[in-house]
Amino acid sequence: MEQQQRLPWWKSAVVYQVYPRSFQDTNGDGIGDIQGIINRLDYLQDLGINAIWLSPVCRSSQKDNGYDVSDYRDIDDIFGTIDDMDRLIAAAKERDIRIILDLVLNHTSDQHPWFQQALQGKDNPYHDYYVFRDGKEGVLPANTGTATFGGPMWTFVPELGQYYFHQFASCQPDLNWENPEVRAEIYRMMNWWIDKGVGGFRFDVIDQIAKEPDKGVTFNGSRLHEYLLEMNEKTFGGKDLLTVGEAWGADVDAARRYSNPNGSEFSMVFQFSHMWLDAKEGGSKWDAAPLRFVELKKVFSQLQDALYNTGWNSLFWNNHDLPRAVSRFGNDKEYRVESAKMLAILLHGLQGTPFIYQGEELGMTNVRLRKEQVRDIEAVNVLVSRAQEGFSEEEILDGLYRKGRDNARTPMQWTSGPNAGFTTGTPWIDLNPNYTEINAERQQHDPDSVFATYRTLIRLRRAHAVFVTGKYEPIDLENPALFLYTRTDETHRLWVLCNFTKDVQTLPVSPQGMLLISNYADETPDTLRPYEAKMILEQR
Ligand code: GLC
Ligand code: CA
Repeated sequence: MEQQQRLPWWKSAVVYQVYPRSFQDTNGDGIGDIQGIINRLDYLQDLGINAIWLSPVCRSSQKDNGYDVSDYRDIDDIFGTIDDMDRLIAAAKERDIRIILDLVLNHTSDQHPWFQQALQGKDNPYHDYYVFRDGKEGVLPANTGTATFGGPMWTFVPELGQYYFHQFASCQPDLNWENPEVRAEIYRMMNWWIDKGVGGFRFDVIDQIAKEPDKGVTFNGSRLHEYLLEMNEKTFGGKDLLTVGEAWGADVDAARRYSNPNGSEFSMVFQFSHMWLDAKEGGSKWDAAPLRFVELKKVFSQLQDALYNTGWNSLFWNNHDLPRAVSRFGNDKEYRVESAKMLAILLHGLQGTPFIYQGEELGMTNVRLRKEQVRDIEAVNVLVSRAQEGFSEEEILDGLYRKGRDNARTPMQWTSGPNAGFTTGTPWIDLNPNYTEINAERQQHDPDSVFATYRTLIRLRRAHAVFVTGKYEPIDLENPALFLYTRTDETHRLWVLCNFTKDVQTLPVSPQGMLLISNYADETPDTLRPYEAKMILEQR
């Protein structure tokens, strides 16, 4: 424990992601708001989390639900006011919970005053805040492929005779990071938020900021780390803040570099290699394939190994862009509770900082939506583009059910009452109808609930140093059904034993020690039952 106190707070912390739109509405407009988060802080304190990653609440056009900012220093009306934000930061602080702000720095909304100015003319001072290239209508300035939400990455502005560059939707123009004024402006804004008392930042698509569109480079541009070092130095460097970059393009080496313990860049990054193992190799996320389970173990093992003492891992199954973990990696039918707990035990035993996405602690599931219920900008585009590629409506909707982002965005299920206690109005997105069964009210005081498992895991992580510092070692890596590993420090060995199938499996090891947690009421020493998982702590 001695040693644990010298480590940065975020190494023993657990973070909870709130997607404000879908968390708790308090004024009946059907959209979650900041007051709603304040009202639910007691719930989060009971769960035991140490920080909230707050998806964007800044003023936004809301085409991509806040990931299209039109004012970085103000709060969107739908969520409240800057005073509400100050109150949230203070109320969370009283409960030892820090607020991690989600910063979208790769692009802004096309409604941002900077972009509106930029459109005024080539000599407007804000023109160079964005990435414009001269061109003729119909002839793209460079071949940069398809934008994330469909269509080309270039949009023509006839008045200027120029194209502007956007890696996401055309309403999300990319900022020009090569312009030192853009960077200085961003750093000033970040320091303004640091002065307000935020606990850190999550950086949206950070590995795409240093684009070099003329060379067709979007991810990992050559100046990326130069910018990050500079940002660190000018803003959060040396401060007691958690910083995590979203980096879809990061491999293991990059993850190590970003999270260098010398503090030159970030605390950690979100790295996504475990999120591609249930899609066809080389295909898009919509091309479903059976989970390559052994590969999943190898991906985790490699990161655990490579970052030990040389970096730091983020640990997650879920976020607002990903389908629900229990539906994706577990069994959301007859073993929903067991498999949701198994996934929790597996992840929280690893070295790194766990991130829980709202509702994950209840075992919330994917949802089947009809066409008219689809809300996400990505999904709306996919309905059109996949139809053009020849897929039937049923196939497209089935793909969305497996992988669509709306799965994570259905309202938080608080109670079995009207609209799950999320709103008294009409929710902006329909609820998952299973809220009558799966809800916080039912689980919070039930010692056998998924919620109780998460609460226990968070407390265990704080009670035993081996969770933070122990060295990871996989067991029987080629085993096609079991995920087994140990974590070892000078005094203890933690055994984490998980069955990823609905069949009984024989254990190749028989560890001795204290049972810390399991997802079954009794014990069978030599086997693991369907989706059974346990942690055993051995004294050395
Ligand atoms: C990130 C966000 C996602 C958003 C995109 C564009 O991937 O997590 O929600 O749509 O960036 O900002
Ligand atoms: Ca509201």
